[in-house]
Amino acid sequence: MHSLKEYARMAENTLEDIFRESREEYAGAMYRIPPLLLDSMRYSVMAGGKRLRPAMLLATVEMLGGDFRSALIPAAALEIIHTYSLIHDDLPGMDNDTLRRGRPTNHVVYGVGQAILAGDGLLNHAFTLLLRNAQAQLEKNPSFDLPGYLRAMQIIAANAGAEGMIAGQTIDLACENGKMPSNAQMLEAMQLGKTSCMFIGAMQAGGCLAGASSLQMQALFDYARAFGLLFQAVDDLLDVESDPSVLGKSVGKDAASGKLTCIGQYGLEGTRQRAKELAEQGIAAMEIFDERAEFFRDLIREMVNRKA
Ligand code: IPE
Ligand code: IPE
Ligand code: MG
Ligand code: MG
Ligand code: MG
Repeated sequence: MHSLKEYARMAENTLEDIFRESREEYAGAMYRIPPLLLDSMRYSVMAGGKRLRPAMLLATVEMLGGDFRSALIPAAALEIIHTYSLIHDDLPGMDNDTLRRGRPTNHVVYGVGQAILAGDGLLNHAFTLLLRNAQAQLEKNPSFDLPGYLRAMQIIAANAGAEGMIAGQTIDLACENGKMPSNAQMLEAMQLGKTSCMFIGAMQAGGCLAGASSLQMQALFDYARAFGLLFQAVDDLLDVESDPSVLGKSVGKDAASGKLTCIGQYGLEGTRQRAKELAEQGIAAMEIFDERAEFFRDLIREMVNRKA
């Protein structure tokens, strides 16, 4: 197994290859993308970020004894989808934010219209990469596990889409400023959608690529569900307690926009307590993988204490 840093670097390298500056060097996908569109897409993808979702996909594959190198394109595709979701999340009609990954947000630099298109371009390009990669693998290697790959794609699509992350984002907007009566169940449904689903997508796609059993798929789901809820609880805490120079995004916006958050539901101390309980749930979910799951146990500990 590798460390989070190492998996993140592998994802970064793959993204660099995909979004290489000089289109002459890369005779693949990019040459038909107009320069303005490519610049606006690259601006947000190559702005840093923790690269957690691709790292978790790669770590899942390796934990299950698969070849994580053959999962680099699906991992990068997932990060590209995540980045599009951030560009759209920051738009004036959504969270209206001006700072992301330590830089002015996409719409501040390129304008709202182009930022919408950069997001659209990234979302579709992720699936172009996934499908092209399937074709290439199949041509190279006749024993390539196409059914497993298709299941992985389906899991990524469903968790990123209307049944997953977009569902959560819809609840997020609908509940803003008390527009809808809300409670702990609604809060959890929202955070499960907007945050857990992309982690479920990462780990279960990794599971499919590595031929996980249904018992293992369930454990991956349980972990990613708890991990996402924990991650969002900490995100809500950081919005109150952190600093833009450390966090790379604005703070204090959740309260100002009347967002449904863990802080509103449980208070600061209650949210810390909830994060602890979710951490225990996540760690318990990985029991069936015994010492092979050390990466994921460490990851939870790291995320409970993260500062950015
Ligand atoms: C931000 O995700 C959106 C949430 C789900 C809270 P990350 O905190 O993983 O953002 P990056 O990718 O590191 O910028
Ligand atoms: C956004 O949640 C989750 C997605 C982008 C899907 P937030 O709105 O809390 O994320 P930040 O705080 O802007 O990163
Ligand atoms: Mg939001
Ligand atoms: Mg936001
Ligand atoms: Mg937030």
